[in-house]
Amino acid sequence: MSAYRSHDCNELRPQHIGEQVKLVGWVDTVRDHGGVIFIDLRDREGKTQVVFHPENNAELAKMAEGLRVESVIQVGGKVVARLKTDEIDATNPDLATGEIEVEADALTVLNRAAVLPFQLDRHVANEDIRLKYRFLDLRRPEMQRNMILRHRITKTMRDYLDEQGFLEIETPILSKSTPEGARDFLVPSRLSPGTFYALPQAPQQYKQLLMVAGLEKYFQVARCFRDEDLRADRQPEFTQIDIEASFITPEDIYGWVEAMLQRVFREAVGKEINAPFERVTWHDAMDQYGSDKPDRRFAMKLTDCSDIFAKSDFRVFSGAIAAGGVVKAINAKNFSPSVGQVDSLTQTALEAGAKGLAYIKVRDVNDREGWKSPITKRLTDAEIDALKERLNIEDGDCIFFAAGPWEESCTILGRVRLECAEYMELLKDNHDIDLFWVTRFPLFGWDAETQRFCAIHHPFTRPVPEDVDKVLRGEISTDLCAEAYDIILNGNELGGGSIRIHERDLQDATFRALGLDEATIQEQFGHLLSAFSFGAPPHGGLALGLDRVVMLLGECSSIREVIAFPKNNRGADLMSESPAPAEPNQLRDIHIQVKLPEKLRQKLEAEKAAASSGGDGAPAKA
Ligand code: AMO
Ligand code: AMP
Repeated sequence: MSAYRSHDCNELRPQHIGEQVKLVGWVDTVRDHGGVIFIDLRDREGKTQVVFHPENNAELAKMAEGLRVESVIQVGGKVVARLKTDEIDATNPDLATGEIEVEADALTVLNRAAVLPFQLDRHVANEDIRLKYRFLDLRRPEMQRNMILRHRITKTMRDYLDEQGFLEIETPILSKSTPEGARDFLVPSRLSPGTFYALPQAPQQYKQLLMVAGLEKYFQVARCFRDEDLRADRQPEFTQIDIEASFITPEDIYGWVEAMLQRVFREAVGKEINAPFERVTWHDAMDQYGSDKPDRRFAMKLTDCSDIFAKSDFRVFSGAIAAGGVVKAINAKNFSPSVGQVDSLTQTALEAGAKGLAYIKVRDVNDREGWKSPITKRLTDAEIDALKERLNIEDGDCIFFAAGPWEESCTILGRVRLECAEYMELLKDNHDIDLFWVTRFPLFGWDAETQRFCAIHHPFTRPVPEDVDKVLRGEISTDLCAEAYDIILNGNELGGGSIRIHERDLQDATFRALGLDEATIQEQFGHLLSAFSFGAPPHGGLALGLDRVVMLLGECSSIREVIAFPKNNRGADLMSESPAPAEPNQLRDIHIQVKLPEKLRQKLEAEKAAASSGGDGAPAKA
């Protein structure tokens, strides 16, 4: 196999008995059974038991006994059958190599391991310590499984796209800002003092320019960089399977992505999924689930109750309807939330923009006294009866309401719905796969803070054909619809894309709709507008978040589990200790002076002092 080994640690079987072999790997365990030393030797492929008999070679057995786990060793020896008699069965059916062992006659220590900061075969609750010693953490079988799964998935997608005629083309990392809705990471230029590159939030403009360049079908396993707040499914640098093609409609994209994901599920996790995937409009997703990435594995749908309360004495409800809004409700079946849970749900609603969260705990549907709520005394019998029927209310149910503008109320209730599902453990042990498209997104949103329209997807997204003229005429509203689509898996946005604008005038009109002035348009997007005036083909594409795909297929709790060297939730790499201050001469070369406000500087100093007094190598606390 190599000069180091004749077999890997998952290779030897009864047919090898009698052969002289050489293995290398890590010491997984060392056990002493009355002087006989057993070592489980582990490599990427698996484990093999190695046995050292003191009566054969006392010195070797002693050396083996003294080995610390995770040391790297090479052993030579003979493959023998494990003892299996009526009285004793030394075989291990859980191990592929469990019928044999290697009787060692040679041992070389290639690297002695120090005492480990954590045990690799135990669950480690402190993620910071795992990240600090990621090279050890990655040795654990579940992490190796994740890396292998990631490789499989990426390879499957690459092969599929290659077969379909897509070309893998790299685009720059040092580039210019391209808006995807996050903050840019900036890199100062030494050669042009005072100027900066932006790391790409996505290769969006480059891939469009490749279409203008006539390459027709492009893909890339693309690194993207976004300076945003991090969550379990977000990293500051992540990977997209980025796709773009010319002369296509959304149907082409749906077809490719569906076939590609079918193959990925089959080859990576052995699951068959049906295509075509269902398509749900953005409006229906919001209206029924209160989310543009609905988790449909449980129902608890949002129900409109506006007609019931239009003339209600309860002004919170009737007032919202009079102002053009709605009253929406969900019925959490057989759910009796605790006081703490109601508080937390209310907090969730407030954070989503609600003024409150009305609810009713129904102990006994047929008795008004059994409708426990701060609001029931304000409701009439007719309203209660209508609710009972509309929401199919039974004893033990809990009803939550949102009253206000449609989109806001849907969003609020959508978040309450997800939190209820968590408390109710509706998804416990659920292994369903719900893959579908969300289509017909709005083209523009309204940003109350800046008092401007903003792009819902990005500013290169095409309006649906019937809305193109409105954009050209400058008739901008949040009612315009985009030729955009997202793909959703179990309540997670796996990917998104759109058909693009390929005409200079429409792109220009879109920038203007977003409130950009001529100078800004030229400065930021002059190259794109220029490209669109020299023969740009109709084109479109999509990007799948690779990390999310792997996380969901691997049923992992966080995106960090499927990235070899991720950042923690404060954006830090604890292993290499980045980000870190730069050397003064490095800063001088790029003409950068770091000037922190005095208060911030003091705060950071204090944090640093506290962290370093936390002991040797102890990770800083958030
Ligand atoms: P979008 O911004 O929707 O579209 O991103 C596409 C997909 O990338 C993944 N993703 C992330 N994954 C991990 N961490 C992050 N911070 C992060 N941000 C996004 C998601 C998301 O669905 N250029 C467009 C695509 C196009 O129009 O073709 C784009 O980037 O899974
Ligand atoms: P109030 O009339 O302000 O005492 O509110 C009565 C109940 O309605 C309280 O439980 C509030 O949390 C709730 N509430 C207030 N505004 C809204 C709203 N827009 N949607 C849903 N519930 C609300």
